Amino acid sequence: MSDRKILITSALPYANGPIHLGHLVEYIQTDIWSRFQKQRGNECYYICADDTHGTPIMLKADREGIKPEDLIAQVGKEHLADFIEFGIEFDNYHSTHSEENKHFSSLIYERLRDDGHISSRSITQAYDPVKEMFLPDRFIKGDCPKCNAKDQYGDSCEACGATYSPTELKNAISAISGEKPIEKDSVHYFFKLADFNTMLKEWTTSEGHLQPEVSNKLAEWLENGLQDWDISRDAPYFGFEIPDAPGKYFYVWLDAPVGYMASFKNLCTKTDLDFDEFWAPDSKTELYHFIGKDIIYFHALFWPAMLHGAKFRTPSAVFAHGFLTVNGEKMSKSRGTFIKARTYLDHLDPEYLRYYFAAKLSAGVDDIDLSFEDFTQRVNSDLVGKVVNIASRCSGFIKKRFDGQLSTQCAAPELFQQFTLVSENIAALYEAREYGKAMREIMALADKANQYIDEKKPWLIAKEEGKDQELHEICSMGINLFRLLVAYLKPVLPKLAAESEDFLNIESQPWPTNAQPLVAHEIKAFKALMTRIEEPKIAAIIEESKENLEKIVAPAAKKFDPIADEIEFDDFAKIDLRIAKIVKAEHVKGADKLLQLTVDIGDETRNVFAGIKSAYKPEDLEGKLTVVVANLKPRKMKFGMSEGMVLAAGPGGADLWVLHPDDGAIAGMRVK
Ligand code: 2FM
Ligand code: ZN
Repeated sequence: MSDRKILITSALPYANGPIHLGHLVEYIQTDIWSRFQKQRGNECYYICADDTHGTPIMLKADREGIKPEDLIAQVGKEHLADFIEFGIEFDNYHSTHSEENKHFSSLIYERLRDDGHISSRSITQAYDPVKEMFLPDRFIKGDCPKCNAKDQYGDSCEACGATYSPTELKNAISAISGEKPIEKDSVHYFFKLADFNTMLKEWTTSEGHLQPEVSNKLAEWLENGLQDWDISRDAPYFGFEIPDAPGKYFYVWLDAPVGYMASFKNLCTKTDLDFDEFWAPDSKTELYHFIGKDIIYFHALFWPAMLHGAKFRTPSAVFAHGFLTVNGEKMSKSRGTFIKARTYLDHLDPEYLRYYFAAKLSAGVDDIDLSFEDFTQRVNSDLVGKVVNIASRCSGFIKKRFDGQLSTQCAAPELFQQFTLVSENIAALYEAREYGKAMREIMALADKANQYIDEKKPWLIAKEEGKDQELHEICSMGINLFRLLVAYLKPVLPKLAAESEDFLNIESQPWPTNAQPLVAHEIKAFKALMTRIEEPKIAAIIEESKENLEKIVAPAAKKFDPIADEIEFDDFAKIDLRIAKIVKAEHVKGADKLLQLTVDIGDETRNVFAGIKSAYKPEDLEGKLTVVVANLKPRKMKFGMSEGMVLAAGPGGADLWVLHPDDGAIAGMRVK
């Protein structure tokens, strides 16, 4: 065992939603690194936790009529189940809503405060007078002060890209109660980040702490000067109360990274690990944080400053990665490419995705693309066509002709040596997080193994008299090459590795430094270790991911509950239903389901997007009558503003009806 002691973390997922493929880039990247370190014989711990505090979680629990504690317990279980099935092997998975986290968050705050790094002052913020709470920017909606687009968030406009403060928003309302916010003063606590300017300049530029592109970005931020960081929030807030400030809570981002320490402390209580050995300022151990590039500011500025100021060690490095795109575009709910981990697991082997992400990952912060065509082709060709194929080509002869025994010596020792000679190169690529390059090296070896078998043609030798020994040695070499490939792929494909080790009848393989061929050894019967990806499974995942959205945006499609879903007559009377004439109907570029309609509602024409492409051709609609909700609040969609809703009947697909049977009716006639 080497003397490296390593603690690794992935960012803590928010407990307000499910794990999706975008998250998995990071957990797979980190898990590969952790498994690699362990396989190399290093003492390594990979820890994580659910990030449980903050306003969105509090409000979600409120909407669901449950306590936040119950919500986070449920979501935590789901997260962990998804991770386990994807082969993400944490040494500990904890929660930021824990005693350990409360202890360390308070301790860090108190140490910073006692050394003069905390200040307080009163600030003015938007306040919801009905909900009696301050409103985070994302919970205020209104018209953009620059372009007047409706229904924009309090911090930025999705239509024109402007950023502003919520007080500039026109016709602002609280997204929680719908009420107009008022302005209210309250005392907030601040972490004086500028006190750590010198320390951070040094830390962010020291060799190995950050990727060069990240370090350059931070130099710009540091040049512009560091602002005080607001670390408090007023009650009601789901989080930890600040020790000396009743009614004030730590902002979720204060206690989230402390969750790394808390999870490790929790592991220490279950084992004989020494917390201080890993977290004391003079620690000789290594600490690495894997994160997405969107949260660099928190991990490369706030977090090292907090740790240093509170007299803990700082990270050995922070490794940022890029975002996931699917088929070259941002993940999209309408295209069915916003895929939950669970939806994927219902259809495909998680190891396909682990391999594909590994093949695409580098040490940089570039985004990575999941192209389904490339995914299918690469997995089928590399894993099934190259790696597993070697075992399947050789094992049959070993079983049938040699009673499952490998030969006492192998053919082609120089080929075996070529495979072992690159072991340190491959290890260096894993260590540097250049997984894509490592996968290419390994696949080049798999090509060599297949070429060897192609040249030797064991299927022909098997038919010749007196060539048993040759056949035995060739096939035994094939099995030995397969064994090395599996050892190299083990951090990426732990399930394939374990099943192969069982087939090879060997112990769990360490990193193959100085490996020798297995000789005179009995292997088990070969079973298909991995099968090809079938295209319909991918189509099913996309379809199901689209359905997930439809369930969210079309509540009318859910099962009708005659008691809970009943509405009062007054509610019905609010709806302005009109019979409208479809003046124009057109396809919408880039939209799978929508048609764009121009409808005459009597006193004006409106632009409406309707999800009816599966049932109608535009030319069949023009000039026809339909029923429209005319007083629905205009909604900004990706393709433009929708100024009403066309009513449809039927289960969906081709069975969708929007036309009024009586073409003689008067357009714009109110039906309420
Ligand atoms: O961005 C996020 O999803 C956060 N929940 C990550 C927190 S990482 C750490 F600081 F806890
Ligand atoms: Zn705007």
